[in-house]
Amino acid sequence: MERTLCIIKPDGVKKNVQGHIIQMLTDAGFDIIGMKMTHLSSAQAKSFYEVHKERPFYNDLISYMTSGNVIAVALKKDNAVADYRKLIGATDPAEAEDGTIRKKFAASKQENSVHGSDSVENGKIEVGFFFAECELY
Ligand code: CMP
Repeated sequence: MERTLCIIKPDGVKKNVQGHIIQMLTDAGFDIIGMKMTHLSSAQAKSFYEVHKERPFYNDLISYMTSGNVIAVALKKDNAVADYRKLIGATDPAEAEDGTIRKKFAASKQENSVHGSDSVENGKIEVGFFFAECELY
């Protein structure tokens, strides 16, 4: 079974759609193996998104990801990484397919409601960023 990480981002929490998003995750067959609300520090957000540090949107992304509470959800399922990416849809909600989380809830490429791990390896690493192994069930 693969693991992948969902982060319900500040726009999703501020709009209070976290319950809808979690329902979509479980309806799609994902097992929630860990969940926590947190407020990322600038250092944590910079570390999590280090891979994007040369991108022009990096500073805005860090400001946005530290602008409010987030909910980290560790997920488990066969083929979790690819299935979750399909469920959330494209980064830009304008390009996301109907029925996807981002199509339903995201406002823009930046305020796109949820984060998704982009590979099986990063799924493991990103779950580990938010959860100690003893916090996963
Ligand atoms: P996420 O899945 O969290 O991974 C990286 C994030 O960077 C992405 O979702 C978006 O929130 C943000 N992002 C990616 N591309 C752009 C862009 N062109 N402009 C603004 N933000 C972006």
